[in-house]
Amino acid sequence: MTQIAVLGYGTVGSGVVEVLKTNHESISKKAGQEINIKYVLDLRDFPEDPIQEKIVHDYNIILNDPEVKVVVEVMGGVEPAYTFSKQALLAGKSVCTSNKELVARHGTELLKLAKERNLNYLFEASCGGGIPIIRPLNSSLTADEIDEITGILNGTTNYILTKMIQEGSDFDDVLKQAQALGYAERNPEADVEGYDACRKIAILSSLAFDKQVDYQDIYTEGITKITTADIRYAKALGMTIKLLAYSRKLEGHYFAMVAPFLLGPNDPLYSVNGVFNAIFVHGNVLGDAMFYGSGAGKFPTASAVVADVVDEVMHQGETIPVYWGEEKLTLDDLNDSRR
Ligand code: HSE
Repeated sequence: MTQIAVLGYGTVGSGVVEVLKTNHESISKKAGQEINIKYVLDLRDFPEDPIQEKIVHDYNIILNDPEVKVVVEVMGGVEPAYTFSKQALLAGKSVCTSNKELVARHGTELLKLAKERNLNYLFEASCGGGIPIIRPLNSSLTADEIDEITGILNGTTNYILTKMIQEGSDFDDVLKQAQALGYAERNPEADVEGYDACRKIAILSSLAFDKQVDYQDIYTEGITKITTADIRYAKALGMTIKLLAYSRKLEGHYFAMVAPFLLGPNDPLYSVNGVFNAIFVHGNVLGDAMFYGSGAGKFPTASAVVADVVDEVMHQGETIPVYWGEEKLTLDDLNDSRR
């Protein structure tokens, strides 16, 4: 049996607990052993919830328990998630996370720490919710040189744009719905200003291009400047508006951006609606591939987190390859004008 600890009992954390319970049998079978949640770290108490018996408020209890082999960090935000993840790795525990902000900011350091200790820092849930994309980039697509990634990587903004275009809904009302459905970040500015998509494309590019892409170098524009007139024009043209996160390698030069685009019906991303995400990838050998599915929310994200836990349990003592670039791309490269 492998004992794990979950940091954060919010939307994703409670999803992880539920997935491990609902699919206990099939997950144990695939992992080759039982996976048991020994602790859940949260500042709050949950007296009505059976989880209460596992709730701890002091992270040292988890750190100092040698039985805990895997820490699931689903707190979000940079601190204390960064310190906790680092401490877990230094204490010999692998970390599985959905925290795109942390991976984008400190992925290089945390991956290095994990590798040096034959541990893993796994982050399938950081991009595209439940859609498999990190693992394919690290395994099925390794024969290729990836030269383009274009994605709808934020479920909240895609949900808002879809409702505005298809139903004429008001921006603020739909944002509230997205928050109620558990899609939006605690501070939805990260969604609507494009920062969340920016972090995700930085992560995917760092895996695809064998270069470290700093999210702060990526030109980012969200959906807050889109007016009702823009929506009317898009519809009149038979087009739609999508927030795209885009990165491209061309003759050794790199470009990346996040911005709203007008898309026509022939574009493969045109019909990706609601909370769905899609990631279009072009490889020099493969050609085109597209990954599509549930891009945000409790269960899709929890599904990806739990899959990482299973992977870790199956590979204990061994570092699963993550092709994260060592060399850092410069701003000039990213802003290369040849798109
Ligand atoms: N707020 C994010 C989104 C959650 O809407 O896509 C999933 O990363």
